[in-house]
Amino acid sequence: MLSEKLEAALNAQMNWEIYSAHIYLSMSSHFAQEGLPGIGQWMYAQYQEEMFHALKFFNYINEAGGHAKLGVIDAPAYSWETPLAAFEEALEHERGVTARINALADLAQDERNHAVGIFLQWFISEQVEEEDTVSDVVGKLKMVGDGGGLFMLDRDLGTRVFTPPVAA
Ligand code: FEO
Repeated sequence: MLSEKLEAALNAQMNWEIYSAHIYLSMSSHFAQEGLPGIGQWMYAQYQEEMFHALKFFNYINEAGGHAKLGVIDAPAYSWETPLAAFEEALEHERGVTARINALADLAQDERNHAVGIFLQWFISEQVEEEDTVSDVVGKLKMVGDGGGLFMLDRDLGTRVFTPPVAA
């Protein structure tokens, strides 16, 4: 059972995850065009991961007796000056997602809705990983700069594939 307020907050997060997915898909397109297909692939895998997050909310809201409602999604940017600028934006975005998930967990706690609290635990752990993964790439991009190292890093990032977690 979900209160109206909690249902609305879960729906807002579902739509925010779709917005996140669109940002990464747009980044994927940009870097594929820029001759950095590995970064394009990394961003594509991240897009898939964000859609997985969105669908987790979608399924949960409906299972919990609510109604998953799709809203208007703002258009993301479509070009970035450098890979570093894109990944720094992604890191900032992920920190914002973490803050939203934490606020959602606070609301579930305020309402004593322990089932929603347990559901959100997965996202709380996931956000630690999300921030760490993006931060790791930011660090590598700062190290390699624009030279030949970027070519190698692009190849390395291009090996990323999204595999949905088995238990989910
Ligand atoms: Fe779904 Fe990257 O947070």
